[in-house]
Amino acid sequence: MPALEDDIEKVLITEEEIQATVRRLGEEITRDYTGKDVLLVGVLKGAFLLMGDLARHIRLPLEFDFMAVSSYGAATKTSGVVRILKDLDREIENRHVLLVEDIVDSGLTLAYLLKNLRTRKPASLEVCALLWKTAMQKVSVDLKYVGFEIPPEFVVGYGLDYGERFRNLPYVGTLKPSAYQGNGE
Ligand code: IMP
Ligand code: MG
Repeated sequence: MPALEDDIEKVLITEEEIQATVRRLGEEITRDYTGKDVLLVGVLKGAFLLMGDLARHIRLPLEFDFMAVSSYGAATKTSGVVRILKDLDREIENRHVLLVEDIVDSGLTLAYLLKNLRTRKPASLEVCALLWKTAMQKVSVDLKYVGFEIPPEFVVGYGLDYGERFRNLPYVGTLKPSAYQGNGE
């Protein structure tokens, strides 16, 4: 069994940088939503760490729900095909919904989700994404809260996977070319 970090080429965003930024996002959200009842909707599985850390910096009464979608399979390029694997547990009509995403790459997944959620008539619908690959956008999406703009490289860690691995790294990094060999499910 190889060690977890053997396949990491370089650290793009350190644990400290992530934590400071998530704190900043939590404080902004707290300010913007004071007096409102917020529903945080996490997009599984990638947003699971961000949801936990972000929620602890939002000093407001919160409720949580999760959706799971698949866009990629295990490959590293977007297919544009989005499937809902798990839908929300509750209705969101008249709720202030904040969608929490790990990364916006082409934006196709997010555009699909926003369109879908809008039909359910939330009082408001905004997005908080940790990472944004600005150069990769295929559809324009409005991101109210963004942690980091990153170059168009494939990254793992802090929720992000390659072939379901590396999600538990506390930082965001790139993989060595050797890590992609023999794992192209
Ligand atoms: P989009 O539809 O192209 O914006 O892709 C969004 C989804 O693809 C994200 O929620 C991730 O699950 C996955 N994804 C996009 N870029 C990366 C990456 O660099 N590393 C890991 N997963 C990624
Ligand atoms: Mg993935």
